Amino acid sequence: ATGQLHDRLSRPLRDLRISVTDRCNFRCGYCMPKEVFDKHYRYLPHGDLLSFEEITRLARLFMQHGIHKIRLTGGEPLLRKDLEVLVAQLAGLRTTEGRVPDLTLTTNGSLLARKARALKAAGLQRVTISLDSLQDEVFRRMNDVDFPVAEVLAGIEAAQAAGLAHIKVNMVVKRGTNDQEIPAMARHFRGSGITLRFIEYMDVGATNGWRMDQVVPSSEVIARLQSELPLVPLAATAQGETAKRWGWAGADGRHDAALGEVGVISSVTQAFCGDCNRARLSMEGRMYLCLFATQGWDLRSLLRSDASDAQISTAIAHIWQGRGDRYSELRASLPADSGAGQRRIEMSYIGG
Ligand code: GTP
Ligand code: 5AD
Ligand code: SF4
Ligand code: SF4
Repeated sequence: ATGQLHDRLSRPLRDLRISVTDRCNFRCGYCMPKEVFDKHYRYLPHGDLLSFEEITRLARLFMQHGIHKIRLTGGEPLLRKDLEVLVAQLAGLRTTEGRVPDLTLTTNGSLLARKARALKAAGLQRVTISLDSLQDEVFRRMNDVDFPVAEVLAGIEAAQAAGLAHIKVNMVVKRGTNDQEIPAMARHFRGSGITLRFIEYMDVGATNGWRMDQVVPSSEVIARLQSELPLVPLAATAQGETAKRWGWAGADGRHDAALGEVGVISSVTQAFCGDCNRARLSMEGRMYLCLFATQGWDLRSLLRSDASDAQISTAIAHIWQGRGDRYSELRASLPADSGAGQRRIEMSYIGG
C-alpha cells in the first residue's frame, strides 16, 4: 500500500524535514536561549540518535508515500559528523515517479565554508542559510556566542562557489532587535541571485518567552520595502509553500528577474496550514505532524524491533492519515494561556 497519502484534511504528504541533531553552536534567543541551553542542559546521548542507515531507510519508506522534498535540519545539521555521507545516501533515493528528491539543508552557515564542496559533491542540491543581520555587532548579539557575521557570509559565498543552486537566506525578524536591518538586508541580497526571506517570529517551543508585540507582520515588512524600492507579487511555485513571493520590479514596473525576489513567511499573521504537506522526523526517530505538536510518534522502536518495511510503511500511512493538525490557524482563536502544561517541542529539536 504505497502511493500519495492524504491526511484527514486532504493534505498530501510531500515534504519531509529530518532533524539530525539537537545540538547547535549558536544560542539565538528565539530558539536556544542561553539560560535554558546552558552547560547543564542534557542533549540526547549518541545511542538515541538514528544512524544514517536508519534515517535513510525511513526516508525511503516515506518517499514511497509521496515525499518529493527532503530537508535536513537540526539544531545545526552540519554539527552531525560526516553529514555528507547521509546526503549521499538520501541522494540515491527516488520519488514515486522515479525522480531524485529535492534535497536541501537549513544551516546557520557557520561551518559552510568548510563543508559546501563536500555536500555538493555528495548530491545536495541547494541550501538555506539563517542570517538575522549584516551588522557584526547585532549578529554577534543575536547568535549570543559572539560569532562573526563575516564567517557566515564566507559560508554563503562558498555555497555559491560550490554550485549549490537556489540559495535562500532566512531572517527571523524580531521587533526592537533587528527590524531596523530589513532595508539593508534587502539591498544586500537584491540582484545577488540569493532569495532573502523574512520570517515572522513564532511562538514555537516553550523557552523563548515569545510576545506578540515582538512580531513584525509581513505586511509591514513589505510596506517598508516598497516605500524605498518597488516590489510586485509573484505566483507561488509549489503548492503548500511557506513563503509568499515578491519580485523586485524594474523601471517598467514589472518583475526584473535579474534583481530576483524576496519572500515573507507569515505563520503568525497569515497561517498557511491549509495546504501544509510537511512531516517532521526527529533525530531520535519520532514523527511529528506539526511544528507545534506536543508529541511525536515513535518510529525508532519499530526500526529496532525487526519490523519489516511493510509494517513500518503501514505505520507511517496510518499516522499521516490520522493527521488533523493546524496549529497556526487555530492560534488566533485560542486563549493566550492555552497549552499550559502541555510542553511543545523546541525548534532546536525539530528544526523549524
Ligand atoms: P523552501 O523549500 O526552500 O521554500 O523551504 P522552507 O521554507 O520549506 O523551509 P525553511 O527551513 O527555509 O523554513 C523557513 C521558515 O519557515 C522557518 O523559520 C521554519 O520554521 C518556518 N516553517 C517551515 N515550515 C513551517 C511550517 O510547516 N509551519 C510553520 N508555522 N512554520 C514553518
Ligand atoms: N520563529 C521563527 N523562526 C525561527 N527559527 C528558529 N526559531 C524561530 C522562531 N521562534 C528559524 C531559524 C531558521 C529556521 C530553521 O527556523 O532562523 O531559519
Ligand atoms: Fe541554532 Fe538555528 Fe536555533 Fe539559532 S535558530 S540556535 S542557529 S538551531
Ligand atoms: Fe503545518 Fe503545523 Fe505549521 Fe500549520 S502550524 S503550517 S499545520 S506545521
